[in-house]
Amino acid sequence: MNKVTFAIIKPDAVKNNHTGKIYDHILKSGFKVLSAKLIKMSKNQAQNFYLIHKDKPFYNELTDFMSSGKCMVLTLEKNNAVNEWRETIGSTNPNDANEGTIRKLYATSLGENAVHGSDSDENAKKEIAFFFSESELI
Ligand code: CMP
Repeated sequence: MNKVTFAIIKPDAVKNNHTGKIYDHILKSGFKVLSAKLIKMSKNQAQNFYLIHKDKPFYNELTDFMSSGKCMVLTLEKNNAVNEWRETIGSTNPNDANEGTIRKLYATSLGENAVHGSDSDENAKKEIAFFFSESELI
């Protein structure tokens, strides 16, 4: 499974009309899109997706934001996908992100940071299964 990772183009980026530019950035970075769909998470869905952060002080803010509008969820394929995608998006805080990374280009703050990426192969598998059925992975 180290060929796939899970990504979200978050509500801030969709609202600011950056979806197309980020999708293009994904393809130009050598990823294949195995699945993609536009969704709006419920608060409950966002809480379950980010359950790992439930004890963090920003959990409520994070799940409010992630359920505030449309986002695009994607399954991406590339060798060493998890690490490659994390390199492509840059640091969680856009102030620390390298030039040319997606967060440097499109994120506005630590909370509204344009994109999500899985942090391990194990979590990538769980996160893909959270949003996609087998038949949607093409
Ligand atoms: P993401 O990669 O989606 O994983 C968890 C998210 O929590 C992270 O991106 C940030 O957007 C968000 N986050 C992390 N730290 C903070 C914080 N201190 N305040 C608000 N949001 C945060």
